[in-house]
Amino acid sequence: MKKILITGGAGFIGSHVVRRFINEYPDYSIVNLDKLTYAGNLLNLKDIEDRANYKFVKGDIVDAAFVDQLFSEEQFDAVIHLAAESHVDRSISSPMDFVMTNVVGTVNLLNAAKKHWANKFSDTLFYHVSTDEVYGSLGEQGMFTEQTAYDPHSPYSASKASSDHFVRAYQDTYGLNTVISNCSNNYGSYHFPEKLIPLAINNIKNNNPIPVYGKGENIRDWLWVEDHARAIDVIFHKSEPGKTYNIGGHNEWKNIDLIRLLCKIMDKKLDRPSGTSEKLITFVTDRAGHDLRYAIDSTKLQNELGWTPSLQFEEGLEKTVEWYLNNEDWLNNVTSGNYQSYYQDQYSER
Ligand code: NAD
Ligand code: DAU
Repeated sequence: MKKILITGGAGFIGSHVVRRFINEYPDYSIVNLDKLTYAGNLLNLKDIEDRANYKFVKGDIVDAAFVDQLFSEEQFDAVIHLAAESHVDRSISSPMDFVMTNVVGTVNLLNAAKKHWANKFSDTLFYHVSTDEVYGSLGEQGMFTEQTAYDPHSPYSASKASSDHFVRAYQDTYGLNTVISNCSNNYGSYHFPEKLIPLAINNIKNNNPIPVYGKGENIRDWLWVEDHARAIDVIFHKSEPGKTYNIGGHNEWKNIDLIRLLCKIMDKKLDRPSGTSEKLITFVTDRAGHDLRYAIDSTKLQNELGWTPSLQFEEGLEKTVEWYLNNEDWLNNVTSGNYQSYYQDQYSER
């Protein structure tokens, strides 16, 4: 039996990865370590929480002694590391939280793996889940490949870039078996409504303004979250140690075009006259240092490991809208309490 530590499993992508591994690999034992920050929510895993091969541990990866103790107790064979502070806007107002969790937390995990896996590196794997934002911003042409030089601009992407460098350093210096993947923007169920798509769905539903930064001309490359979880599964099982893979959907959208499509879908699903939701679009002050364009070239992953995205964006977005409309309790739960003050601070001055 393989025992796998998944960090950040109560978050958006982590919960899809945990669910996939629990369902696809009943002979693996999965330990989900999560601090349950504002972004972590055990409701995201309600459907699998009673499975015999699943265990939840509440804890902070910044606490080195705790991480070391957990590795002693559990004897993991592998780590899939997703725990992070993940929102760019929050990194602009609180960069140190990102240094602590994304850099120090990652190095704590690497140290524990190095210590507890000494003499058996070849039977273990440290899989680090990263982002395309480490590559910086593209102009109108080109795509990020695995060879693109790192050029992060936000405190979030700088912290993720730093964690990627530490993972490679532990591979090269100590011989730890590591793999890194860098993925583009995800969308789908359980996405916290601070991020563009779920925030816009929630605002349209409540007839509130949809805040679009700048002129809405920034471009993101969107991938359905379950396709990301499947890519992580494929890379985890098939990659050679020391490798990096880009993951993306070849699916670039200008923010304003995406929001207009979303408005059309919402009008249809909410049975509102066509054009109702578009009236909510409000252009607000741009994000500081806002990267213009991301686009991922995932040819290496497709050619070497045979992964391709499964879902067209229009279909995925419609499924996502349906999920949010059918899961009002979840949405109400995560937008109560601290969310209101976050929203106030973030948007009242724009
Ligand atoms: P998220 O914010 O939804 O979830 C992060 C999870 O980590 C939460 O459950 C949170 O409680 C947990 N966490 C935070 N700090 C912790 C700490 N100190 N100790 C333990 N747990 C902690 O993030 P997400 O969008 O699911 O992203 C997951 C990973 O994927 C991140 O590493 C992110 O950089 C990366 N990524 C995200 C995207 C995207 O589009 N969302 C794309 C590419 C890569
Ligand atoms: O590219 C991968 C990254 O995608 C991940 O590493 C990050 O964790 C994830 O948060 C995401 O980062 P972005 O900054 O691209 O996602 P966000 O949803 O915050 O913003 C998407 C685009 O929409 C971006 O150009 C900013 C814009 N935006 C965002 C918000 C929250 C708006 O116009 N209005 C908004 O209110």
